[in-house]
Amino acid sequence: MIAIGCDHGGYALKQDIMAMLTEKGYEFKDYGTYSSESCDYPVYAEAVCKAIKSGECDRGILICGTGIGISIAANKFKGIRAANCADCFSAEFTRRHNDANIVALGARTIGSGLALKIVETFLTTGFDGGKHARRIGMIAEIEERELN
Ligand code: RB5
Repeated sequence: MIAIGCDHGGYALKQDIMAMLTEKGYEFKDYGTYSSESCDYPVYAEAVCKAIKSGECDRGILICGTGIGISIAANKFKGIRAANCADCFSAEFTRRHNDANIVALGARTIGSGLALKIVETFLTTGFDGGKHARRIGMIAEIEERELN
């Protein structure tokens, strides 16, 4: 199950992404926001991160104007590895090397066509494991020490 969330800046792109997910048969849950009225992106980052941490969802998609604020907020949650991607190479390698569980997108920085390709790449690429798993473990150790 995929968790998806956005602020007002990402609302229109979220509609496009949800249409693509539906067309391709992915199951997803929409955590808002539900209109283009101004709102605060940390609220939606938190909702999507909690859905992943609880095990209800295994991947997340977050969208704001730049993808930056919403990914910064998401990366404050233990076990969340949110990657702000503006190209397909990054989307592929953040799955293969970082085992990213959230892709963040900037609706004001990339077009809808590219965003859809990034999401598709993110959802269809696996984790390489091996030495990369050791590094993910090191990130988890930093979280234990620094995020209380
Ligand atoms: C909202 O205006 C904008 O600041 C937000 O969508 C995002 O770009 C923040 O990083």
